[in-house]
Amino acid sequence: MQIIVDFNKPSFLGNELAYIQQAIENRHISGDGPFTKKAQAFLETTLGLGRALLTTSCTHALEMGAFLLDIQPGDEVIVPSFTFTSTINAFVIRGARPVFVDIRPDTLNLDERLLEGAITSRTRAILPVHYAGVGCEMDAILASAARRTIPVVEDNAHGLFGKYKGKLLGTFGSLATQSFHETKNITCGEGGALLINDPAFIERAEIIREKGTNRSRFFRGQVDKYTWVDLGSSYLPSDLLAAFLLAQLEVYQEIQSHRQRIWQYYQAHLGDWAASNGVQTPFIPPYCEQSYHMYYLLLPNLETRTRFIATLLSRGILSVFHYLPLHLSDMGRKLGGRSGDCPVTESISDRLVRLPFYTTLSLADQARVVEEILAFQF
Ligand SMILES: Cc1ncc(COP(=O)(O)O)c(C=O)c1O
Repeated sequence: MQIIVDFNKPSFLGNELAYIQQAIENRHISGDGPFTKKAQAFLETTLGLGRALLTTSCTHALEMGAFLLDIQPGDEVIVPSFTFTSTINAFVIRGARPVFVDIRPDTLNLDERLLEGAITSRTRAILPVHYAGVGCEMDAILASAARRTIPVVEDNAHGLFGKYKGKLLGTFGSLATQSFHETKNITCGEGGALLINDPAFIERAEIIREKGTNRSRFFRGQVDKYTWVDLGSSYLPSDLLAAFLLAQLEVYQEIQSHRQRIWQYYQAHLGDWAASNGVQTPFIPPYCEQSYHMYYLLLPNLETRTRFIATLLSRGILSVFHYLPLHLSDMGRKLGGRSGDCPVTESISDRLVRLPFYTTLSLADQARVVEEILAFQF
């Protein structure tokens, strides 16, 4: 089958190639070069952060988070079951036990009403995921976390530039993580960032990212030689990737406004059809500004979703489902997950379909997607 409308295509909108060429001419293509510094400064200024450190992926930023929180075998970490493996894998690597919590049926975010029942004396972190870049109920989550001084690490892979009650996602937790993977609004192919809101973590984060050395302090002239000072790994991206990323960040408003138009077109043209066919469209609480990361539909059941995806594919349109419940994955079951543990997640996971969504998706292609959806026979 020839694909006419793809699910995702990376978009090039700014000075990506020119900046990569400049990085080559700079003779600095390893990490922490001029483009890494500019991209980090851009994130720090635009988001109003203490420190942003570019990483090779959101997965690696999450691993840095688990390092920084000194997660030990047997520690419990609270996470929604409806998320990507990396959110929790980064902590399980260090021996943590995932405590899977169900999601809200409206925003598909961690259900804050279940949080109190999931916290124990062994809870060492809470990991809210802002699904589709719509903010979790951060007031309630932060209040529960603060009562027991449990750190919050926001997995903000989808949510760059989204807001909850006027405050940017990624600025609530002690730490937050971003993804710049090809499917994200702002990309460099593979990449990520650790956002550090609690300044107590900054120095150790630099060391962990630099293979356990104090090389960052050396480069700033704060020590006269650098050496092995702590545990660490290699999480620093090449300046070539940072060059690509900076070019995208510089035109983020343009990217966001394209994506807003795409999202609103789907919503405007599918709203009535959805309401009359028992299909749920995304819910954005009035106090949330979403990041326009994706557009999804919740179909009545798995059988309809399977036919829906196959029908669109037969017309050359690629739509995809999303996360399988983590507690029912092979690993999740080994760790004690059982059917029925997270009923909302189990139902949503069977019914959710993501429509083609990328920054340069043309109006003509989008109109074609909508036309095929409106013709779908239930
Ligand atoms: C919620 C969430 N967290 C983390 C990741 C991992 O991101 P990366 O590919 O940058 O490691 C993803 C991937 O899409 C994701 O959806």
